[in-house]
Amino acid sequence: MKKILIGLLVVLVAIQFFQIDKTNPVADEKLDFLVMNNTSPEIATQIKASCYDCHSNQSVYPAYTYVQPVGWFVKNHIEEGKEHLNFSEFGNYSAKKQAHKLEESYEMIEKGEMPLSSYTILHKEAVLDEAQQTALISYFKEIEKGIKK
Ligand code: HEC
Repeated sequence: MKKILIGLLVVLVAIQFFQIDKTNPVADEKLDFLVMNNTSPEIATQIKASCYDCHSNQSVYPAYTYVQPVGWFVKNHIEEGKEHLNFSEFGNYSAKKQAHKLEESYEMIEKGEMPLSSYTILHKEAVLDEAQQTALISYFKEIEKGIKK
């Protein structure tokens, strides 16, 4: 039993040497969704707090991401999140893709799937109450309508 515990401890210490890369890719401001649409500060603050850690090149890595395997778990969500939708590169998407991503966004909020619940446990500022959900949903719909496909 003691040998197993020591073994586990050795593994836990060893994996701490495999830190995640916390550098954000350089982003062109003009391509950012909130900049492109001149989003009101109120809505922009909410979208940043609820979505930008995983869906932009402005991810903030909390101190606990220095602890593995927690950091790996977080990094994985960020990489996967950005693959699906990167608000920092929104301007590079075709009009059709922009409209589609906005549609997916309000659907995810409607279903309560985004922001991810594993995230909101530690990020209370990301939680959307009903009024905030409604505000974001109608904002995404409004921008989607304005896109010429
Ligand atoms: C903790 C990280 C995290 C946060 C915060 C987050 N997402 Fe996501 N998002 C993901 C991951 C991971 C995926 C891909 C896997 C999945 O669909 O669960 C994803 C997928 C998506 C997709 C693509 C869905 C599809 O069908 O392909 C959209 C759209 C989306 N998120 C919108 C949002 C919006 C809008 C917010 C803010 C209200 C948000 N997300 C907050 C991690 C996050």
